[in-house]
Amino acid sequence: MRSGLPDMIPISASLLAADYARLGEEVRRAEAAGVDSFHFDMMDGHYVPNLALAPDHLKMLRCHTKLPFCAHLELENPDEVLSRFKEIQADMLIVQWNTLANPTHTFARIRSQNTKVGLGLNPDDTFDKVEHYFGDLDLLLLLGVYPGFGGQVMQPGMLEKIARARSLAGGLERHLTIAVDGGVNSGNAVLLAEAGADCLIMGTALFQSPDMAQFIGSIRESVAESLRR
Ligand code: DX5
Ligand code: ZN
Repeated sequence: MRSGLPDMIPISASLLAADYARLGEEVRRAEAAGVDSFHFDMMDGHYVPNLALAPDHLKMLRCHTKLPFCAHLELENPDEVLSRFKEIQADMLIVQWNTLANPTHTFARIRSQNTKVGLGLNPDDTFDKVEHYFGDLDLLLLLGVYPGFGGQVMQPGMLEKIARARSLAGGLERHLTIAVDGGVNSGNAVLLAEAGADCLIMGTALFQSPDMAQFIGSIRESVAESLRR
């Protein structure tokens, strides 16, 4: 097993693919099946051509589980809404790189709200300007798809991008979790983990699996087996 990697690869359930009419039940179903956290895509119809979850969803679902809640702010101006999360028990806020006017300031504001800091990169974003900030982050989210919709196919080049991020994050004091979001499924999970991803964010593949617990178990088993080799 690669050092630093937990025995079971963490899986975060992206609620964008859940049944919106039964979100509380979906959260409980995913927890019972073994996910480690929940991923809330918040979309404003400007940064991405879609509208999705809002802070109130996170607030209202809090009573259904104690697992961590991560809000992925796919919004044109995340700084405007950060304070909305003060009263809500979000465990992590993930902001998109190309929405930040002053990354240091935004990361500090998020941390001052006792919330972990995540940074999301689009498929076209490179690391040259971003790596400087890795030490400020708890999680780097590499989008495998152009943001806005679930159920898309992962863009090429992700394995190389993950491996590069893992190597750049090597000497940091705080462990940087490298998460992949978009297009993750049972066919690519092992390759993503072998490349260096240590969190898989899954929507469509997870919520559409006929047996979620079996699906999670089999991904974890294949990942653990491949990393033991
Ligand atoms: C894309 C979102 C993803 C999305 C992933 O804008 O950030 O979290 O829900 O969905 P799947 O797993 O269906 O590709
Ligand atoms: Zn997301």
